Amino acid sequence: MIRINENYTKLKASYLFADIARRVNTYVAAHPSKPVIRLGIGDVTEPLPPVCIEALHAATDEMSQRATFKGYGPEQGYAFLREAIAQHDYAARGCAIAADEIFVSDGSKCDCGNIQEIFSTDLRLAIPDPVYPVYVDTNVMAGRTGANVDGRYQGITYLESTPANGYVPSVPAGAADLIYLCFPNNPTGAVATRAQLAAWVAYAKQHKAVILFDSAYEAYIRDPEIPHSIYEIEGAHEVAIEFRSFSKTAGFTGTRCAYTVVPKALKAFDAAGAEHSVHALWNRRHTTKFNGVAYPIQKAAAAIYTAAGQQQTTALINFYLENAKLIRSAMTKLGFACIGGDNAPYIWINTGRDSWEFFDRLLNEAQVVCTPGAGFGKCGEGHVRISAFNSRENVETALARIAAALK
Ligand code: MLT
Repeated sequence: MIRINENYTKLKASYLFADIARRVNTYVAAHPSKPVIRLGIGDVTEPLPPVCIEALHAATDEMSQRATFKGYGPEQGYAFLREAIAQHDYAARGCAIAADEIFVSDGSKCDCGNIQEIFSTDLRLAIPDPVYPVYVDTNVMAGRTGANVDGRYQGITYLESTPANGYVPSVPAGAADLIYLCFPNNPTGAVATRAQLAAWVAYAKQHKAVILFDSAYEAYIRDPEIPHSIYEIEGAHEVAIEFRSFSKTAGFTGTRCAYTVVPKALKAFDAAGAEHSVHALWNRRHTTKFNGVAYPIQKAAAAIYTAAGQQQTTALINFYLENAKLIRSAMTKLGFACIGGDNAPYIWINTGRDSWEFFDRLLNEAQVVCTPGAGFGKCGEGHVRISAFNSRENVETALARIAAALK
């Protein structure tokens, strides 16, 4: 008799954003004359930068000629893209990351979800709350947790992000082996200072732990004092893996391209205490289970590192940040305490009410979709997240509708 992986039975019935989409679709079907504005899932709305479109066209033409046609590419990504990333995203910020420490992939969601496979199943996890649900759910699937009791899985040290700590958790008192951090944060939009990140790097060194640092939103940082990469902190090469994505930087949510940095200096240990290269393990996993991102997509991603590409992506991000400013200011005017939106595309709103009720109220009375904070964890209760990814017109209409509904 075929048996299931029973860890899956510990999960909530559906993934957060699938659950929200179902509720919204039900509402839309019942109210076809009421157009809904979606500020829930962080999905971009503006077209790809022109440099990316030109690169896509040119690369597609190359695929039409025998002389320039490409079959399988390197699983880790083409050198032209890995070298551009190493140069522009790291060397330019003073971080020594070599091109061969970069693994190009089809998304940070996949990488953040898959990376845990190379570590033991009995390690001690530290995961923020609220949190991007992929970090938790993939560890539940892998069997690293116990049951969900009162909204929390046994076996996880939850790093609480609350108004009291400015939504940036400190290192825990006890030991952890695998630590997830995300800055600028999804869902709160909070950023971590150099000193806060340095404390995490020191903690990881002390406990021989690994930090999984999700910086998918780094391009939204405008405060010059805030680090964009964990590798801006001395010693981080020995303790951290970093995830980056072109999704929110250049509008690639539908195009799919991201990368993960696994420094060669990063080591993990087997049961006998012998040291292993995490880079070698991830390379083994990646080459076994992944065949690389399509050549035209990698060409489009590389195009953002040209002068024109930098200018176009900055304009795109500035556009969403302007939306974020409008949202934060409108919600503040309505009397809510908010964070995020200044160095991130998300605004985290302390509603002081049940977050699913607030979600339903915005959907029913304003036809605006947000994300209920409780969906991101226990500490998300009492909050909602509003995303800045939409057209200016839709953001302005949504804010006017919210103001009218909450008056
Ligand atoms: C979000 O809304 O949190 C993100 O868009 C989800 C994702 O990037 O997978």
